[in-house]
Amino acid sequence: VLRMSDLDLKGKRVLIREDLNVPVKDGKITSDVRIQASLPTIKLALEKGAKVMVMSHRGRPTEGVLTEKDSMALIADYLNELLDVPVRLVSEYLDGVEVEQGEVVVFENVRCNVGEKTNDERLSKMYADLCDVFVNDAFGTAHRAQASTHGVAKFAPVACAGPLLAGELEALGKALDNPARPMVAIVGGSKVSTKLTVLESLSTVVDQLIVGGGIANTFIAATDKPVGKSLCENDLIPEAKRLIEQAKAKGGEIPVPVDVVTGKEFAEDAAAETKSVDDVADDDMIFDIGPRSAQHLAEVLKEAKTIVWNGPVGVFEFDQFGAGTEAISKAIAESDAFSIAGGGDTLAAVDKYGIKDKVSYISTGGGAFLEFLEGKELPAVAILEERAK
Ligand code: 3PG
Repeated sequence: VLRMSDLDLKGKRVLIREDLNVPVKDGKITSDVRIQASLPTIKLALEKGAKVMVMSHRGRPTEGVLTEKDSMALIADYLNELLDVPVRLVSEYLDGVEVEQGEVVVFENVRCNVGEKTNDERLSKMYADLCDVFVNDAFGTAHRAQASTHGVAKFAPVACAGPLLAGELEALGKALDNPARPMVAIVGGSKVSTKLTVLESLSTVVDQLIVGGGIANTFIAATDKPVGKSLCENDLIPEAKRLIEQAKAKGGEIPVPVDVVTGKEFAEDAAAETKSVDDVADDDMIFDIGPRSAQHLAEVLKEAKTIVWNGPVGVFEFDQFGAGTEAISKAIAESDAFSIAGGGDTLAAVDKYGIKDKVSYISTGGGAFLEFLEGKELPAVAILEERAK
């Protein structure tokens, strides 16, 4: 694909699509990873003398209505703090917008525009008309074929990838296309059903596939051990069995926890008990892997040359069930493997255990990261490739 860094942008109207869809709680941004990741791109466009416009979606609002809760205002304010040029939020931009060199214009939430989600041609052309160069830098939204990610790239005079998007594709490609081995993937999270395809595709390429969280419970059940009242998808036990066999057949392994930490209720103050997987009682819920399992996984990670991490292995937001995820974090931090972490919960764990600088690459993608791991084509990237031909 064409890269923004290779283009002359002097005096050009440059429209950058970022993914600034950041988590917000009580009116405060709780993780600024995506905003920080967009800064080098915005700064580079400014340095190149472009007239810079930035657009993004936020949340999943109803098209045609812009309410305060969906507004980009607090994100624009945040950018204003971080950049040393003025940042101006505009809500009316589809019919044209005046931009000066040396300022950044931020568009209101693109998902409030009618036709955004359906990749409407008319809306796509309106975005395209606003610029001389369209830059897609939104890896986090690259799995969506929408007007601000796909349609605009089709109709803009020039369409290219920004440094963040290009960097993400390069890092993920390095981990997956020709990985240094052993390669280890950690897939945690609550449900097998949402990660079945990623488990499926990773089980054939990695040497060890570590499962954690609720997902691990279904695998524990697949080895005929009791899981009590734990989150477990009974209908997917046969799938879990098949994945274990499939990994084995390819010379890999899906290690199933040998010990676990349980509680009687899902609560911040629930008492934690460590026990062998054979001893899980009928009224127990598994909330973390146990120390023996964590120790084993730490050893596996120590040997790894490539590590891909999506999803915590326990309910780490409650400290008494965080030891497993902490052990995994520390092992990744100490490993000299090329490591990639992605997904909202994973980044929260990376933050909590202070390993941000020790992971080789932090992906800004959630769903997009998973789809990349699944081997799916990302439509917003595909259109840039098409345009580059
Ligand atoms: C994300 O947070 O994963 C992206 O911003 C995409 O958001 P979406 O799932 O609402 O399209």
